[in-house]
Amino acid sequence: TERAALEFAVTRNAAAKSSAERDELLREPAFGTVFTDHTVGISWTEDAGWHDARVQPYGPISLDPAAAVLHYGQEIFEGIKAYRHADGSVYTFRPDQNARRLQRSAHRLALPELPAEYFLQSLRELIAVDGGWVPSGADQSLYLRPFMYAAEAFLGVRPARHVEYALIASPVGAYFKGGAKPVSIWLSEDYARAGKGGTGAAKTGGNYAASLLPQAEASAQGCDQVVFLDHDRNVEELGGMNVVFVFKDGTIVTPKSDSILEGITRRSLLELAAARGHQVRERAISIDEWRQGVASGDIVEVFACGTAAVVAPIGALKGHDFTDEQPSGTLALQLREELTDIQYGRRGDAHGWLYRL
Ligand code: PLP
Ligand code: COI
Repeated sequence: TERAALEFAVTRNAAAKSSAERDELLREPAFGTVFTDHTVGISWTEDAGWHDARVQPYGPISLDPAAAVLHYGQEIFEGIKAYRHADGSVYTFRPDQNARRLQRSAHRLALPELPAEYFLQSLRELIAVDGGWVPSGADQSLYLRPFMYAAEAFLGVRPARHVEYALIASPVGAYFKGGAKPVSIWLSEDYARAGKGGTGAAKTGGNYAASLLPQAEASAQGCDQVVFLDHDRNVEELGGMNVVFVFKDGTIVTPKSDSILEGITRRSLLELAAARGHQVRERAISIDEWRQGVASGDIVEVFACGTAAVVAPIGALKGHDFTDEQPSGTLALQLREELTDIQYGRRGDAHGWLYRL
């Protein structure tokens, strides 16, 4: 059903960066440290629904100290990128999927579902004012961070009746320093990220909060990322990425679980792999199967994937009493190239995944 477009009130940032300042910031962006000149906001109240859509100068948010998000973590977010093509145009990738996932996250966190049309409109409105912030260097993009939080000042524990949706954007380069060089993974034995029936499949801040201590442990062990298991010792995912296994016979396996984030990068890579003739299986894979598969040569490649990190080959798996070097293959990098070629407009978009902003 077509929904009437929202009217966005636009307030220009009088202190917007000059194009020279902006170009300097765009030269070598790190991940998530620099933000564009504007944000988008849409308010929701139980009485009025979605209203007060606006584009406004980037700046601090004023929140009541009793705002529910600060106490009970009622918050969700998304991650999606805008890519500059050679002709200067700006595209994003499968935003319908992010819109729907935001709705699923909203459902789990008892937040209102933002209509997909409003989600897409928010991306277009931000690019309309901040399109100059989409960088054009290799592997660079504008990372878009839509989020929603409980703004009602109320300490009773129930879904908030005042919620804010917002969109901020940050020019980014490669997520891992060192580009596409293999990453090392720490096996979290002491901590889980999510549990059965919990919020693992939702993109909510609490899942990331739960990952920080194990991620710090990973860093202390010299690893880039942490991998989580479920209570049956099946592989779940990394702190901010999905994981994919390539078997000797060409079969590709990725964990099936109700408590991981359903990655859009993962789904897209598996579709590309299937089109190349690979068997693709979503099924449980235990840590023992992983380690034995690598030891026996049955598993020939393991990689991580996500919007921020794109595709990162896994070079080592480390635990309290072992380090398993991981086999290196070429499929991860081939799929990475195919995916990024589509995203940056260097090859045809046969699947209709691109969306012009
Ligand atoms: N798993 C987690 C925990 C993530 O944070 C992300 C990143 O968004 C992913 C998986 C990959 O999801 P996507 O490919 O949609 O970015
Ligand atoms: C993303 O890839 O969009 C994420 O949210 C992951 C996070 C580690 C930046």
